[in-house]
Amino acid sequence: MAFDFDMIEKVYANFGSRIEAARKVVGKPLTLTEKILYAHLWDGAAQETYERGVSYVDFAPDRVAMQDATAQMALLQFMQAGRSKVAVPSTAHCDHLIQAKVGAETDLNKANTESKEVFDFLGSVSNKYGIGFWKPGAGIIHQVVLENYAFPGGMMIGTDSHTVNAGGLGMLAIGVGGADACDVMAGLPWELKFPKLIGIKLTGKLSGWTAPKDVILKVAGILTVKGGTGAIVEYFGEGAIAMSCTGKGTICNMGAEIGATTSTFGYDESMERYLRSTNRNDVADAANAVKEHLTGDDEVYANPELYFDQVIEIDLSTLEPHLNGPFTPDLATPVSEMKAAAAAHDWPLTVEWGLIGSCTNSSYEDLSRAASIAKQAIDKGLGTKSSFGINPGSEQVRYTADRDGLLKTFTDLDATIFTNACGPCIGMWDRVGAEKQERNTIVHSFNRNFAKRADGNPNTCAFVASPEMVAAIAISGRLDFNPLTDTLTNDKGEQVKLDAPVGDELPLKGFDVEDAGYQAPAEDGSGVEVIVSPTSHRLQLLEPFTEWEGTDLKGLKLLIKAKGKCTTDHISMAGPWLKFRGHLDNISNNMLIGAVNYFNEKTDNVKNQLTGEYGPVPATQREYKAAGIGSIVVGDENYGEGSSREHAAMEPRFLGVRAVLVKSFARIHETNLKKQGMLGLTFVDTADYDKIQEDDTIEINGLTTFTPGKPLEIVLNHADGSVEKFNVNHTYNAQQIEWFKAGAALNIIRKNIVA
Ligand code: F3S
Repeated sequence: MAFDFDMIEKVYANFGSRIEAARKVVGKPLTLTEKILYAHLWDGAAQETYERGVSYVDFAPDRVAMQDATAQMALLQFMQAGRSKVAVPSTAHCDHLIQAKVGAETDLNKANTESKEVFDFLGSVSNKYGIGFWKPGAGIIHQVVLENYAFPGGMMIGTDSHTVNAGGLGMLAIGVGGADACDVMAGLPWELKFPKLIGIKLTGKLSGWTAPKDVILKVAGILTVKGGTGAIVEYFGEGAIAMSCTGKGTICNMGAEIGATTSTFGYDESMERYLRSTNRNDVADAANAVKEHLTGDDEVYANPELYFDQVIEIDLSTLEPHLNGPFTPDLATPVSEMKAAAAAHDWPLTVEWGLIGSCTNSSYEDLSRAASIAKQAIDKGLGTKSSFGINPGSEQVRYTADRDGLLKTFTDLDATIFTNACGPCIGMWDRVGAEKQERNTIVHSFNRNFAKRADGNPNTCAFVASPEMVAAIAISGRLDFNPLTDTLTNDKGEQVKLDAPVGDELPLKGFDVEDAGYQAPAEDGSGVEVIVSPTSHRLQLLEPFTEWEGTDLKGLKLLIKAKGKCTTDHISMAGPWLKFRGHLDNISNNMLIGAVNYFNEKTDNVKNQLTGEYGPVPATQREYKAAGIGSIVVGDENYGEGSSREHAAMEPRFLGVRAVLVKSFARIHETNLKKQGMLGLTFVDTADYDKIQEDDTIEINGLTTFTPGKPLEIVLNHADGSVEKFNVNHTYNAQQIEWFKAGAALNIIRKNIVA
């Protein structure tokens, strides 16, 4: 399959020497996280120690994974790099664009028609450039990655925040934007701020109704949605070792919900079992040969407070099942306290839907434990009071679960089996009646439960729980049902109780699949044509951005002076615009429409200096572009915070904005601007922000001697004829100045490859 064992052998061959070098430099025992980070330094063996939370470091990831929504722009950009093949093993997965409605077969057919051009593009571009392609229906990216590509001690980046799921197999796997994925596929280093480290010691053992999901629901309650920011979470202890590999994946997956960079576990027998069960004996053998490097040093786990920035201890033996929500995944309620909590908050008690699936909880073990509850319900004369839906994580899981009768158990209980895809987890759910926006409750095993996330209804209270709890609640139909203590009335009027779930960590007869949905890339892709219709509304091949003209910039018009918060979502909105992610021209019609105009406090309403009239930001900018006039965007503090969406930098560049001048930048957005050949500048004196007037014509001087550390000059030509000048700072290094001059970082890569 798309597996690259040679790459893993190379990684492991260097592991010992690199970790030894790191130990010398750091001068103390190492956590697993540090071992993996230091083993993946771009410049080879460690020469210096890095300061956690401070140093920016270049790394060399082993793999790249992309999902269909984010892969489009990542791969359109990659095509600009001029390479014949990706520099590291990479895969694309079609899982986000399949809506759940009727059931797997019908829904998949519909998606294959509606998103055909996107899937055809991804299939052909993957085929051409050596990228493994997983077709619609093959499964959810992170389950497929865990089953096929994740390996202990590896480093992976992926264009999805739940890439972190692969920590369940001992990786450092990190979610990034498409621009980062493009860079790594093009052979460039990947930069990360050296993280802080949180150690979580798991003592005791899970039992009864408590599942791995409850560990992360508990952790989310402790750390909140921000508590892991800038940190990698490393789990250890007897409770960690006793847990299944896919259970570890669940815990790492929802590390994204506490804002952690990623999470990981040390290599152990559960991982070895999983590797062997998923036909990777070679990887298991190779990992066993270097296993002392694939977990933290003993001294670290013996005295964790000396080596981690924060340590949390959780006793699994006393941990209760949890329900987290609604509207945030860190509002943790133990099941025994739900009756009181639901009454206190007036949460609707009737549960309309129970949903099992998502990349978080769709493994074979998850389905088998939930099926054990479903089977009991059938045997004890119970049905489901809630509607019940299942999204298996992959075709391999679905096929095997079907062979072993698990799916039949669910359908006997009137469950709908949806496609092996994200479905309701990403809001791709045509839920009947959602448009009425009634207040209601659903329970699911997904990771996110923000308002509108699953069904678009802001009044749906969504609670997150383990698959077995979801099954029990769907049977009872009540949010405050506690299966540990409560009984249910069966079809004979008797009171019956559900026993604790049982399940198989791995299928006893092994995994099986007829067609996993994988397309291997062509050996030689030079003759493969990338399929993009010139009339498509969703996809558009990119043209290289033009080089800098070699002069200072004169005659720029002020496009907008944004006031207050301006995140990447304000710059390039999501929602209905997602479908244009592969079409730069069309998605540019959302440029800055969420930003507040300082001069009239309105959104998407700016003065067109050519006509004197007010209009939408994108249309105004298009008029400047048509007239051959550049423009400048002015912003406030922390401009471009939020997701790392590269569209927020590409759209202004595409429409002819020449510079973004702000009080301060969110760092990732600033870097994205630099990569696209834009000028990202900051006021030396933030009070100069007040000097910018609505009718200004602006100059940027000093570009012919553009040098690291040397300020540039802004000249404001006000409409009344007066002129003001001030200096502005930049953080461009020599390489980034070359990006600016060439018109974009990719233009440099292409030149180097052609040269
Ligand atoms: Fe898909 Fe939901 Fe995971 S959108 S990748 S199943 S978080």
